[in-house]
Amino acid sequence: MYYPDELVEEVRMKNDIVDVISGYVRLQKKGANHFGLCPFHNEKSPSFSVSGGKQMYYCFGCGAGGNVFTFIMNYENYTFAEAVKMLADRAGVNLPEVEYSEEMRKKDGYRSRLLEVNKEAAKYFYYQLRSRQGEIGYRYLAGRSLSKETMQKFGLGFANVSSNDLVQYLRSKGYTDELMQEAGLAGFDEKYGMHDKFWNRVMFPIQDINHRVIGFGGRVMGDAKPKYLNSPETMVFDKSRNLYGLNFARTSRQSHVILCEGYMDVIAMHQAGFTQAVASLGTSFTSGQANLLKRYVKDVLLAYDSDGAGVKAALRAIGILKETGLSGRVINMEPYKDPDEFIKNLGTEAFKERLEQAENSFFFEIRMMEREYDLKDPESKTAFHREIARKLCGFSEEVERENYVQAVAERYHISVDNLRKLVVSYAAQTGLVSPVTRPKSGLAAKKNTPEENRKKSQRLLITWITEEPGIYPKIAKYITPEDFTEELYRKVADRLFEGLSKGEYNPAAIISMFMDEEEQREAAALFNTKLTELETKQEREKALHDIVYTVKKNSYEYYSGRIGAEISAVNQVIAGKKALEELSKTHISLDE
Ligand code: GTP
Ligand code: MN
Repeated sequence: MYYPDELVEEVRMKNDIVDVISGYVRLQKKGANHFGLCPFHNEKSPSFSVSGGKQMYYCFGCGAGGNVFTFIMNYENYTFAEAVKMLADRAGVNLPEVEYSEEMRKKDGYRSRLLEVNKEAAKYFYYQLRSRQGEIGYRYLAGRSLSKETMQKFGLGFANVSSNDLVQYLRSKGYTDELMQEAGLAGFDEKYGMHDKFWNRVMFPIQDINHRVIGFGGRVMGDAKPKYLNSPETMVFDKSRNLYGLNFARTSRQSHVILCEGYMDVIAMHQAGFTQAVASLGTSFTSGQANLLKRYVKDVLLAYDSDGAGVKAALRAIGILKETGLSGRVINMEPYKDPDEFIKNLGTEAFKERLEQAENSFFFEIRMMEREYDLKDPESKTAFHREIARKLCGFSEEVERENYVQAVAERYHISVDNLRKLVVSYAAQTGLVSPVTRPKSGLAAKKNTPEENRKKSQRLLITWITEEPGIYPKIAKYITPEDFTEELYRKVADRLFEGLSKGEYNPAAIISMFMDEEEQREAAALFNTKLTELETKQEREKALHDIVYTVKKNSYEYYSGRIGAEISAVNQVIAGKKALEELSKTHISLDE
């Protein structure tokens, strides 16, 4: 952490979470908490809660949660340091100059110089497009139906015909030749000296999620090759971890994104009102990009070209989405090549319909596979069915697989029983999955693994203590931080108990201990487990006793299994046994 803990804490305390979040989400008070529609997933009824008492937020729908820093980090996509800075400004807290190590300072300085020179170049291109020399570029873009506003929104620009005017301009602004080369804006050779990388092209600045220019794509205005010239990767331009248009798409608040192939597609889509469109950066879609998307949505609609290369790219992207845990669907663009052309010809409403009809990726894959077989030929047809069976084995979850077996059988007029047999035989041959048995009901039993149960009771206990710090002294002799067998839980318990034993209560501060957003989210979940509403004191006392007992018993069993592997395990087991014996004779009273 760059800032001292006390300062971070001061900033946090001066930014009431209900106030801050109210600036982004409409909140309504209900009981002790405020509720609103979750800004991190798409929902119709509010499951997003903000607690003024705990100074935390938590969404019961998607599990997003944390303190005021987590919220700003997630909403604005800021780093922790950026979130601290923003909230410090908001509350008028002065932050000292951050203390970087020499190496950090160098790296950071270099990064910001790259961003600066890119920004300056983008400004220059932008200006050129709107000047006399740029008329040809402007006409080209207007000829492709882009409005003035759209060109402005995407910061489109123009690189002149002359070979080193950008270099001259950047020099006049004090940038070194070396930096221009590092940024991929200029090159050097013996004969011509310094020269611009981009010339006689319309320019597409590529922005990161915080609207910072990290690179460029430049398109020729005719049919010359290469059609696009892109900036090389630099310290600020990682092509596999950024997406064109995501800076706008991330605030479109749709439950899906539309993944396109080209810059022009994204721009045409945004102009038509589909502000959830993004594209990869001149390279094929990567798992880094899939992970980036996963932060915002669960569903990705593919708007790839309808030609052979587009289909191939779509099939590849589907695989990556699956691995990442995102669901992919494919938009049918026929009879047009890409979304840009589609919108131009058939318009927004027609595209909306196509969005709704987007095909489930599995059926898309099968349909594409079908093209390779001659279904009139029995042998080929059998081979096709075998391939279907093979693909069905890819669903490791039985219920899901069975659902697909039924759906595919219906669609391709195969008997369900035969297809199921084929799947079983395929699976048995390759050992991919256990034979399919028909589920008794349509519902999959939710797996309650012992580990999940153990964690659940630990979460319950922490939430209860946070909601009613008064119970801490009553259970302190039975429960220690070591009873929380999950490392993150233990860290939280350690801090929480340490505070409570001194009469301090400050759960939101504990969240700041964790740098990683995932950890913050998990820590917030710990404080926000749903407690059953219990009416009577007896019921509550019994429930508390049961949770304490369960946590202790799980911990006892956990450490018993670790004797020999961990030195402290023996002590934990001895203490655990004693506490359990005592607990089974004792009643925890909630009286003051
Ligand atoms: P238009 O052809 O102007 O409609 O552009 P587009 O954005 O639709 O491009 P297209 O579908 O042909 O290609 C998709 C993406 O691939 C582009 O946006 C570029 O990122 C990339 N690309 C296309 N051609 C080239 C090329 O010649 N070189 C490089 N490096 N990338 C290219
Ligand atoms: Mn195109």
